[in-house]
Amino acid sequence: MKIVIVGTGYVGLVTGACLSEVGVDVVCVDVNQEKIDNLKKGILPIFEPGLDTIVKSNYSKGRLSFSTNLSEAVKDAQVAFIAVGTPPGEDGSADLKYVLQVANTIGSCIDDYIIVVTKSTVPVGTAKKVKSGIASALEKRGVQIDFDVASNPEFLKEGAAVEDFLKPDRIVIGVESDRAKEVLSRLYHPFLLNSHPVLFMDIPSAEMTKYAANAMLATKISFMNDIANLCELVGANVNEVRKGIGSDPRIGNRFIYPGIGYGGSCFPKDVKALFHTSDDYGYNMRILKAVDAVNDDQKHIIFRKIEQHFQGNLKGKVFALWGLSFKPNTDDMREAPSLVLIQSLLQAGAKVHAYDPVAMDEAAHMVDDQVIFTRGAIDAVKGADALVLVTEWAEFRLPDWTKVKSIMNGQVIFDGRNIYDSSQVTEAGFSYYGIGVQP
Ligand code: UGA
Repeated sequence: MKIVIVGTGYVGLVTGACLSEVGVDVVCVDVNQEKIDNLKKGILPIFEPGLDTIVKSNYSKGRLSFSTNLSEAVKDAQVAFIAVGTPPGEDGSADLKYVLQVANTIGSCIDDYIIVVTKSTVPVGTAKKVKSGIASALEKRGVQIDFDVASNPEFLKEGAAVEDFLKPDRIVIGVESDRAKEVLSRLYHPFLLNSHPVLFMDIPSAEMTKYAANAMLATKISFMNDIANLCELVGANVNEVRKGIGSDPRIGNRFIYPGIGYGGSCFPKDVKALFHTSDDYGYNMRILKAVDAVNDDQKHIIFRKIEQHFQGNLKGKVFALWGLSFKPNTDDMREAPSLVLIQSLLQAGAKVHAYDPVAMDEAAHMVDDQVIFTRGAIDAVKGADALVLVTEWAEFRLPDWTKVKSIMNGQVIFDGRNIYDSSQVTEAGFSYYGIGVQP
C-alpha cells in the first residue's frame, strides 16, 4: 500500500515513520523545503524518543521518503493523511486554512480513487469541508473521480508518541463508505496484534471523540489543581487525597496529578476550540470554560508561593529552574508553565538560572535573554536563593540534597510537580513548598 502524509510536524512525522515501520510505502510531504532537506539528511525537526531511529532506518530502506511535491506524491497513493497545523485563530477557534489548501491541491491532481483522512485535530464538520474542497477542485477540472474522506484522530502523547502509535489503546476511524473502512482496516491491521480495537464510527463522532478525550483529561487536571489549592487551605495533603480517590476504579489513578497547569500544543488549544464550537452552536460549555480559567490561574501558583516566601522582595534574588519544557521527554515549549513563571520572576527583578535536558534551545527563542541557561542541573543551583522544580524529568528525581544545599545560597525548594518527599527535603535543611500540601 502506498500512502502520503501531508505535514511533517509532530503528528505527521510520527504517523509516517510508524506506518513505514510496518512495511507501508510512505511519502511525507511538507511545504517547507528546509525541513524536507533536513529529514533526508536524518535531521529531525522535533525531539521524540525512538523517532530518530525509525525515521533513519525506514528512509535508508526506501520505505519512507520525503518530498515537497504533493501533486506528484499523491498520484499513485491509496490514502492521503492530512496532518498539517490548525493554529488557533484570534478567537481561539481552529484555523483550517492549511487543511483546506491541501484538500484543494489533492482535488486538483488525483486521477484515481483515494481516501483523504484528516489526522490533525479538527473541529466537527471539517471532513465535510475537506470533501467539498476536493469535490469543487474536481469540478473545476471537469473530471469525475471517486474519493472518500475519513477522520482518524490521533491520541499520541509527546515523549511517548512512537510507543503510543505502535501499541495504541484504540484506533478511532470515522468513515462514510465500506470501501474506505476496508482499506483503513487493512492499513491498521499490523497494530492490532494485542487485540486493541479499531473503532469505526461515523465521521462527526470520530471528530468529536478527539476533543472529548482531551477535554476530559484537561478537566481531570484542572479539577485536581482546584482540589490541591483547597487542600492547602483546609490543612489536607493532596498526595494522600489523590491516592484515596484514585483507588476507586471509577475515578482511576492516572491523570490526577496536580501541578503548575497543563501546557503543550494540545490541551490548551483543544479545550478552547471545543468551547468555541459549542458557543457557535449556541451552547455554553461552562465546565470547559472553568477548566481553562483554572489552568491559566494555576500557571501563577508557584510565583505566588515564591512571593509569599520572600515577602515580595525578589529583586536580585537568583532562582534555579529545573526543567522548562511543558512536560518531560520533549523539547516542546508551547504553552509551557515555565514561560509564565520566568516572565513573573524577571518582572519582579529576580534572576533566572535554568537547566533543561533538551528544551534549552527551544526555550532560548521564547524567553528574555536575561535568562541564563546552565550546562547541568547542579550548575543551575550554584549560588541560587531558591530551587524551583518546574518539569519532572527523571534526572531531577533523586538529587544529592547535601551537595545541592552546600552550593546554594538559600535553602528553599518549590516543587511544582510534587516529586520530592517533603520530609526528606526538610530533613536535609530546606524549606519545602509543594502543590496542595502543607508547607
Ligand atoms: C495530550 C493527550 O494526552 C494525548 O492523548 C493527545 O493525543 C495529545 O494531547 C494531542 O492531542 O495531540 P500531550 O499534550 O503530549 O498529550 O501531553 P500529556 O502527557 O497529556 O500532558 C499534558 C499536560 O498535562 C502536561 O503539561 C502535563 O504536565 C499535564 N498533566 C498531565 C498534569 O498536570 N497532571 C497529570 O496528572 C497529567
